[in-house]
Amino acid sequence: MTHVLLVARAVTHVGGQDTVRRLAVDVAEALDVPVSACFLDGAAPSLHAALDDAVAAGADEVLLVPTHLPPDRYLDTWIRRAHAHWATGHARPPRVSVTGPLADQPALVTAITHAVTGPRHPLAGSPGPFRSPAWSRLTPHRHHVLVCRGPRCTAYGANQVADHLTRRLGQHGLGDDDALVTPTGCLFPCNLGPLVVVHPDDIWYEHVDPELAGRIVDEHLRRGQPVDGQRPRSRP
Ligand code: FES
Repeated sequence: MTHVLLVARAVTHVGGQDTVRRLAVDVAEALDVPVSACFLDGAAPSLHAALDDAVAAGADEVLLVPTHLPPDRYLDTWIRRAHAHWATGHARPPRVSVTGPLADQPALVTAITHAVTGPRHPLAGSPGPFRSPAWSRLTPHRHHVLVCRGPRCTAYGANQVADHLTRRLGQHGLGDDDALVTPTGCLFPCNLGPLVVVHPDDIWYEHVDPELAGRIVDEHLRRGQPVDGQRPRSRP
């Protein structure tokens, strides 16, 4: 059985991720084969997790569809890298192939034609001010927490780390003024990922798993004590 995976890049707003997921449902209905959405970086499930799920569901072939308009060389390159890393952990991986970019599909012209000839929604009024005095203020957060959601950290489990961190902060009632959590792209020392960095203390937590994420919240962000007495990397 062939499984199809729509592989998208980080879509920072929730509605964008849902669009990819809905697209997977519609394509599954049209093709009558299993189709799911996954994300190279910045969202769950990761490509690794989706490949694992396909194997667990009995796929003997997996077809990857880079789902991005316009074509994205980063996505194309990293799909290949992430798949190669995933395959090294499997003795008998299924055959995995990749399609051409969506932008090369002739049906895209039809889709745009439908949009152009379909309902129009005039832009009028203002959904909100473009500038506001509020956006000139620096936020008063005590800690700034960078959570790497780059492709390697994502493959190593950054999605679970980010979920756990956010949940634990919520359990302690810690908000943006206590710890401003910012997902980032690749921070460069990928081999140490998943990475979580806490500023202004300049503490770089390496190989973070959900358990360590919980300790970072409990001990560092809540009580101000870096986990295991860690010291700033740049000032040993
Ligand atoms: S992907 Fe996280 S440091 Fe490179």
